[in-house]
Amino acid sequence: TETPKSLFMLFGATGDLAKRKLFPSLYNLYRKGKLSERFAVIGTARRGWTDEVFRNHVKDSVLSANKHAERIEEFASHFYYQPHDVTDSDSYIQLKQLADELDGKYQLEGNRIFYLAMAPEYFGTISDHLKSDGLTDTKGFKRLVIEKPFGHNLETAKALNNQIRKSFSESQIYRIDHYLGKAMVQNIEVIRFANALFEPLWNNRYISNIQITSSEMLGVEERARYYETSGALRDMVQNHMLQMVALLAMEPPISLTTNEIRSEKVRVLRALRTIEGEDVPEYFVRGQYGPGKINGKKVPGYREELNVAPDSNTETYVAGKLMIDNFRWAGVPFYIRTGKRMAAKSTKIVVQFKDIPMNLYYNTNHDLHPNLLVIHIQPEEGITLHLNAKKPGQHMETTPVQLSFANSSKNGINTPEAYEKLIHDCLLGDATNFTHWDEVALSWSFVDKISQVWENKAISFPNYEAGTMGPKSADELLEKDGFFWWPVE
Ligand code: BG6
Repeated sequence: TETPKSLFMLFGATGDLAKRKLFPSLYNLYRKGKLSERFAVIGTARRGWTDEVFRNHVKDSVLSANKHAERIEEFASHFYYQPHDVTDSDSYIQLKQLADELDGKYQLEGNRIFYLAMAPEYFGTISDHLKSDGLTDTKGFKRLVIEKPFGHNLETAKALNNQIRKSFSESQIYRIDHYLGKAMVQNIEVIRFANALFEPLWNNRYISNIQITSSEMLGVEERARYYETSGALRDMVQNHMLQMVALLAMEPPISLTTNEIRSEKVRVLRALRTIEGEDVPEYFVRGQYGPGKINGKKVPGYREELNVAPDSNTETYVAGKLMIDNFRWAGVPFYIRTGKRMAAKSTKIVVQFKDIPMNLYYNTNHDLHPNLLVIHIQPEEGITLHLNAKKPGQHMETTPVQLSFANSSKNGINTPEAYEKLIHDCLLGDATNFTHWDEVALSWSFVDKISQVWENKAISFPNYEAGTMGPKSADELLEKDGFFWWPVE
C-alpha cells in the first residue's frame, strides 16, 4: 500500500504529551518508512517560538527516546511552528495560510489531521474555528484526533460531542484511548477468537471470574490540578478499564471492520448492569493513598501533594465488580482495580476458570490450583496459562505448571508504542482502535451513577498506604464472593 501523506496540525505542540509521545512516535514511523517524505507538521501553542526553536525541541524529544536517531535533521525539517491564540480568528487564518503553503510544498493533496493535545476546555472552540475559519475546507481527508478527557461526565461529554460534530462527522473523529494501542490489548481478541482452545470455554459455564488490574507506582506528579477534578474513576475506569472489559466480553465480530468490532463492544457496554444509589458500596470501593514507601523511598500522601486540597476527597484508587447481564456472562463477576502509588506498575488480566467437577488428585498443601489464563499487558507482554500436572515421582500428586509466551523480551524495541500505532492507524483512516461516541456515552453513564454517590458521601481518607495494593475494602469486595485477587506484582 502507498504510504499515506498528510499535514499534521498539532495543538498543544509545546506540551508534555507531544514531547513524550507524539514526536518520538512520528519519528519512528518516519524511520520505518511508514511516513513518507510527504508529511509536514505545524505545531501551535501560545508560546512565541520560531521554527528553529521548535525543531530543536522536536530533536531533543526524539533523542531522549532514541539514542541513535538517523536522518533526524531531515525529519525535523518537516516541522513548522506558528504561535497561536485559540480564540482568535486571525490566528486561524494565519494557520490556514501556512497549511495551504505546506500542502503545495509537500504535495499533501489536502489531507489534514488536526490533533488536539492540550487543555480540554479548548477542544470545542478549536473545532469550531477549524471550520468557520476554513481550515477544514480542503479537498483531501480531514480527521480530528482528540485526547482525553472527553468530557467530565455524560452531560459535558454530550455537549463537547455536539460541538465537535458541527465541524467533523463521527467517522472523521478519532477519540484516543491509548490503551487500545497497546500490543497486548489488541491481542485480546486474537487470543480469544483465533484459538479453538479458548472460545468454547469463554463463558459462564467455564469461567468463574475475570480480574483486571492496572496499578501504577507513580503518584499524581504535576497533574494534580486536573486529577483533583477527575479521580481514578474518571481517569482510568471510564475509558481504559471499561475498554478492556468490552474486549474481553464481546461476542465474536462477523468481520474485522471498524463498525463490526465497535458495535460488539457497544453491546457489552449496553449489557453492563447499572450500579446506582445504595447498591454502589456493594459493587465499588475507593481509596486514597497516604504516605508510604515506593522502592524503599518515602513518599508523601496524596493530600500532601502539590495543588491537592489538604482535605481532598478525590479517589486515587478504585476497585469494582461489574456484571454483564447477557447469556454469555450472567453470573460471572468482572473485577477491576486501578490506582496510583501502588506496589507495582502492572496491567494484567487474570481469567479464572471454574474448578473441575470432581478432583481425584491431591496436592499436599491445598486443593487443586484453578486454571488461569493471565494476559500480561505491561510492563512485560505475553500470556501465561496455569495448568496442573503430575509431580515427578511415585504418587499421583499434582503440581501447578505454567505455559508462558513472552511477546517480546526486548520491551520497547520490537513493540511499537501505543501512540505510534494509533497515529499510523489514523493516517490510514482506520478508527477501530479509537472510541466511538456510543462507547463514550455508555461508559460515562455507567460511571456517573457511581461518582454521584461518591460525591455526596465523603469517606475517611487516606485509606491505603503508598506502596501497597490498595485498601482492605478492595480485598473484601472479592472475599464476600469467595474469591481473592490473584497477585500481579
Ligand atoms: C492516563 C491517565 O490515561 O493513563 C494517567 O490519565 C495514567 O493518570 C495513565 O497514569 C496510565 O497509562 P499507562 O500506559 O502508563 O498504563
